[in-house]
Amino acid sequence: MANLAVEVAGVTLQNPIIPASGVFGYGREYERLFPLSKLGGIATKGTTGEPRPGNPSPRIAEAPAGMLNSVGLQNPGIDVFIERELPNLLKKGTVILANIAGSSIEECVMIAEKLDSTAVHMIELNISCPNVKKGGAAFGVHCESAESITAAVRKATKKPLVVKLSPNVTSIAEIARAVESAGADAVSLINTLLGMRINIETGRPILRNNVGGMSGPAVFPLAVRMVWQTAQAVSIPIIGMGGVSSGADAIEIMMAGASAVQVGAAIFTDPYAPIRIISEMDSWLNAHNIANVTDIIGSVIPW
Ligand code: FUM
Repeated sequence: MANLAVEVAGVTLQNPIIPASGVFGYGREYERLFPLSKLGGIATKGTTGEPRPGNPSPRIAEAPAGMLNSVGLQNPGIDVFIERELPNLLKKGTVILANIAGSSIEECVMIAEKLDSTAVHMIELNISCPNVKKGGAAFGVHCESAESITAAVRKATKKPLVVKLSPNVTSIAEIARAVESAGADAVSLINTLLGMRINIETGRPILRNNVGGMSGPAVFPLAVRMVWQTAQAVSIPIIGMGGVSSGADAIEIMMAGASAVQVGAAIFTDPYAPIRIISEMDSWLNAHNIANVTDIIGSVIPW
């Protein structure tokens, strides 16, 4: 078996595979299927200061080779997360990334301060949710606001800080540079791409929110491109995501420069996808006589 361990922001993951925020809840539904200890980590659903019911339905739409969501950050709020969900997650023997998504800098700072006194391993600051009126992607599409919120959260916590970036920008590499200069320990990318579907019989958008975030295999080449561009712009580690569905995809996005990989939409069609992907990566590495998965990080040879 190959050595699959990777390091992100000083934290060792036993393998690079992390179910992405929003597709895995707090792991409760999945622990009946496989031991969560097999995962490299778990990114939890975006947590806000207060409970949020999310957007009205319908909030999921199908697309060729993907899906759109406009969930709207439904979650029970930071206090319930810390009291009810985090203690259970911390017993699972894997790295926990708490995704936080406030609608103001003050809210994100307050959430980070509360998490700072817990045993959570990492904080993933979400400045890229496309489905909320305040906060979310509004922070992540300009260098200045991305930098300000990162700097404020950086001051609020000593936890390793990962900033989750939006692909709905002209240059994701510039945003990555801005958050790196503000103290981010790592970046994760890409969040979803803003999309829309219309029911041509009713003339209405399928999503009640009209628009939503596109994910799934269709976005994979865009994710690889953005990870590659970002890897050339920053020296902090990158967690790559966006349409990763197989071990080959995970290897590819790591060759582009990712140190670890989040798996999102694939889990909706195959709940065992993270476990399958770990095993497929191992087989590929063995077949290519590569002893350490870290050897493939950023190993693409551009023309
Ligand atoms: O709508 C949502 O809850 C999605 C969040 C995100 O993409 O970060």
